[in-house]
Amino acid sequence: MKQAFDKGFFAPLPVLIIGSYDEKGTPDAMNAAWGGQAGMTQISVSLSGSHKTTANIKLNREFTVAYATADQIAACDFVGIVSGNNMENKLEKCGFTVTKSDKVNAPIIDQLPVAIECRVIEIQEEFNETRIVAEIVGLKADENVMTDGKVDYSKAGFVIYDTVTKCYRAVGESVAAARSVGKKFDIV
Ligand SMILES: Cc1cc2nc3c(=O)[nH]c(=O)nc-3n(C[C@H](O)[C@H](O)[C@H](O)COP(=O)(O)O)c2cc1C
Repeated sequence: MKQAFDKGFFAPLPVLIIGSYDEKGTPDAMNAAWGGQAGMTQISVSLSGSHKTTANIKLNREFTVAYATADQIAACDFVGIVSGNNMENKLEKCGFTVTKSDKVNAPIIDQLPVAIECRVIEIQEEFNETRIVAEIVGLKADENVMTDGKVDYSKAGFVIYDTVTKCYRAVGESVAAARSVGKKFDIV
């Protein structure tokens, strides 16, 4: 029998590393689990108004989102613990270097293999929460995580965030082909 709870959680959550520049061109990155796809070409992220990243995105209206990986998990966690408001060399401290995107005014973290480049469509502010809807205008991927010209999940080492035990989990093996395995119930 299922147990009933008054509060719920959403799962699985991604581990998104949001890259942005401040007014001096200093790169920053933060860890965000509250984000996801919002339609065919858009994403949304939910950020606290006090983060340096939030101010940077309001300033430039452009940012990147890299997907955290198991081999860089300590650095990905670090950018979720320390604010660029309090540590100017935050990225240097955890070994992240960046290359400026050629599509948006935002940094791409060299050590993370896949990043999307995003342009803000809408910013919604409610209390201290800033919800940002953005268009994906490009993607950069390292060759070593690709197979036949496509990003290969089995090579990328992506992780997800487990809100129950507050840990990062590796994305596992494929269990079935989507829009395919279910066809076995089609009796028509
Ligand atoms: C696993 C994890 C998930 C997080 N998810 C979010 C999130 O979705 N939204 C948010 O505002 N902060 C989130 N944070 C907190 C920010 O990453 C953190 O406060 C960070 O230091 C902000 O950096 P900044 O001020 O340099 O932008 C998360 C932190 C961790 C460790």
